Amino acid sequence: MKGSSPAKRHVVLAYSGGLDTSVAIPWIAEKFGAEVTALSVDVGQQGELEGALSRAKKNGARAARLVDAKATFAREYLTPAIWANALYQGVYPLSTALARPLIARTLAEVAVDAGADAVAHGCTGKGNDQVRFDVAIRSLAPGLAIIAPVREWNMNREDELRYAEEHHLEIRVTPKSPYSVDENLWGRSIEGGMLEDPAKAPPEEIFAWTGHPETWPKAPEELSVAFERGVPVAVDGVRLPMVELVRTMNERAGAHGVGRIDHVEDRVVGIKSRENYECPGAVALIEAHRALETLVLPRDLLSFKATVDRRFAEAIYEGLWFTPLREALQAFLASTQEVVTGGVTLKLYQGSVHAVGRRSPYSLLAPELATYAASSTFQQDAAVGFIQLYGLANELAYHRQRLARAGGGHPGGGKKRAARAVPPAAR
Ligand code: ARG
Repeated sequence: MKGSSPAKRHVVLAYSGGLDTSVAIPWIAEKFGAEVTALSVDVGQQGELEGALSRAKKNGARAARLVDAKATFAREYLTPAIWANALYQGVYPLSTALARPLIARTLAEVAVDAGADAVAHGCTGKGNDQVRFDVAIRSLAPGLAIIAPVREWNMNREDELRYAEEHHLEIRVTPKSPYSVDENLWGRSIEGGMLEDPAKAPPEEIFAWTGHPETWPKAPEELSVAFERGVPVAVDGVRLPMVELVRTMNERAGAHGVGRIDHVEDRVVGIKSRENYECPGAVALIEAHRALETLVLPRDLLSFKATVDRRFAEAIYEGLWFTPLREALQAFLASTQEVVTGGVTLKLYQGSVHAVGRRSPYSLLAPELATYAASSTFQQDAAVGFIQLYGLANELAYHRQRLARAGGGHPGGGKKRAARAVPPAAR
């Protein structure tokens, strides 16, 4: 921190209202002789942020601020994630990973505006979130120092509770939950407690957005999602702002138990960990988007885009949001979405979601070509010549390889006749 100013140092803390960041307020104030501003960023987490902020002030924060970033989160972060069908390791829709760079950006903006010396966050030293926060802050506002109390102090939960008592902190006493939960518009993650044993099935109590399986409807339900240029714009014909749309999808798909994910995940810091998620809206929207892309994108583009999709998901996971790589991948993704307009029918049933219908004005599925009926305009006899040339290079290569394996073709090798063999199409 800049120590030259005679004024008290000023730290802006990313504040969630939980035990860690509540204890962090007096801890930072004492340790650094600083004034603390508590900043909560609303990315669609449930729970009462206003109440948390008033507690922050009672607990010694000089100021407490709430920034509503939900619309920005949807427009600037969830949109490209949908374009990329972004699933880390094929399963995790990156709910936490997408929100961290936006929270870090907001933190940096507020800190720079206020002329603060440092920012602080409640991440531990074992996770991905510290990487995402620190890399983002260092790229966006290199002049700010970064304080991560939880990474620095050696307190367990009991120590933190004792600290809170000694400092007369007002904390919301929740029944001791063994789980660590993170939540936003795009999903919910649950870690810790008995979940740390990957051999044990997750207990029903960890789920909040997908009801108990007993409550999942016995009959399947269909729902339609409309997209314009890869952005979901309507559900069942009703146009909705994206924040509302994602919420609606969370509710509709969540009611059928869609979006439960149980995964052994590889963290950036080299740790494998068992992770559980509930991301009903994300899983359903990605399924719909992917189905629409299969209708409107040509085969080679779909194939290449899959590698970009994966790299984009990895970059987000790895904390590389504010980087030239992410921006370049996103520019590619954007250029693929011009034709991703149309509608998809999803079927929700007992924990699963499947696309069962898709339509688009830019559909590449030409019925006059694909049909087996007499109306087909596809010239079947043209296939013969196509196949001859198409297979030519590999027919020849395969022959030569067999020859090599048989020991022929070497100087002194005895299979001269085979060496001259040329596949029929080349004749
Ligand atoms: N493993 C997930 C990720 O790295 C979820 C992290 C949840 N974070 C948390 N502070 N509880 O994106």
